[in-house]
Amino acid sequence: MYNTTNKTKHARIVTEVPGKKSLSIYNDEQKFIAPGTQTIASLSKIALERGDGAIIEDVDGNRYIDFFAGVGVASLGYNHPKYVKFMTDQIGKIHVGSFVTKNRAELAELLAEVAPGDITRSQFYSSGAEAVEAALRLAKSYTKKTEFLGFWGGFHGKTMGVLGLLSDTFKYNLGPLPVGTFSTPYANCRRCPLNDTFPECKFRCVDFIKEKIRYETTNQIAAIILEPIQGTNGNVVPPKGFLVELKKLTEEIGALLIVDEMITGFGRTGKMFGCQHDDVVPDIITIGKGFGGGYPMTGLMSRDEVISAKPFSNPSGSSSSYGGNPLASAAAYITLKTIIEDGLVENSRKVGAFMLERFKELQKKYDFIGDVRGKGLMIGVELVKGKNSKEKLDKKYTQLIFTECLKRGLITMGYNPDIRINPPLIITEEIAAEGIEIMDEVFQNVAEQIKY
Ligand SMILES: Cc1ncc(COP(=O)(O)O)c(C=O)c1O
Repeated sequence: MYNTTNKTKHARIVTEVPGKKSLSIYNDEQKFIAPGTQTIASLSKIALERGDGAIIEDVDGNRYIDFFAGVGVASLGYNHPKYVKFMTDQIGKIHVGSFVTKNRAELAELLAEVAPGDITRSQFYSSGAEAVEAALRLAKSYTKKTEFLGFWGGFHGKTMGVLGLLSDTFKYNLGPLPVGTFSTPYANCRRCPLNDTFPECKFRCVDFIKEKIRYETTNQIAAIILEPIQGTNGNVVPPKGFLVELKKLTEEIGALLIVDEMITGFGRTGKMFGCQHDDVVPDIITIGKGFGGGYPMTGLMSRDEVISAKPFSNPSGSSSSYGGNPLASAAAYITLKTIIEDGLVENSRKVGAFMLERFKELQKKYDFIGDVRGKGLMIGVELVKGKNSKEKLDKKYTQLIFTECLKRGLITMGYNPDIRINPPLIITEEIAAEGIEIMDEVFQNVAEQIKY
């Protein structure tokens, strides 16, 4: 067993990991749960007991620093006093029902205040994929067109309607894909699929879209959809101006720009929304994950003219059973209010900049760190086969990094060569520094074993 005593202040490991109690619960569930649960859960095999701030505790009493936050879902961390009180009060009053509540009315108004430009109206759902599909319906309703374009490496959920927009192996063997869905290279300049160099290329990937539309589609693009930073693809940051170029292009071709802010929204990138790094006002924004602070609450936002389009705006045309119910609305309202009141966008910017700097120092120290990128508390650390290689590090080493971090009291998405760091927005510099020290120690340890 790894002994954390005296070494760490916040992480605390008191048993083997996973401990006996965790393993017993994990094994019990394995008899009945469908295979295919989240990789991080099946690799760790820990069973959760409680959380506090940016710390998670398992049933064996091991405490882990959380650089994962359920992929950015736990925006306020765990057991946040304002969240707990608000939700407890609400569940004791009423938790479901399709009617408006004071919280929902105030939430919609608050969203209009924080959203960019003329985006003032919202509708609510209960999964990210559902919100994205609603955005596609809205785009069809407004433009009366039928086709959609996503990006290589993009991720928008796992339902059938978005499968064609996932430019990822996830869709293998699940075809045929919905007709009218296309995808095109993202501005992933480190690995440009067009073999160009930025800024000399002047966004050739955007020009390429025109050729794509000309040769592959029926010229009926209703919307282009993208993540302002690609999360699932490894927290890949496009160069400044990418969204500006895409906005110009959509205006030129009479399509809408949907920015999927599921991960990047609500302070994650050091601004309220990811699209604000480019000062672009999209036509539709999709929101979720950290929006409800952990409660399954998602949504879309748009401007008056677009969101009034039919059939989306017909009675019961945009709504759903659970979206925006009293408990969901309470969750999102208190989360957003707390993000604003507690200055969590600013905290994300500040602690994120500190973490990015520390990871850049580690990049100088370890030649298997090929790239460090990010904005706010959304950081990507790319592991490769040596400084001069862009070939990604073997998974046997990255999975070792994951388990070694876990054993020392750090949960991080280190099992892939593109490590994604997205802790709760409330994380302090002190806790972040302790987590990075653990990663440093693990990198040192693994460096000695790596053979390229
Ligand atoms: C950008 C983005 N959009 C949509 C989704 C889908 O969200 P959900 O899993 O809630 O359906 C995800 C999930 O990871 C995501 O990262």
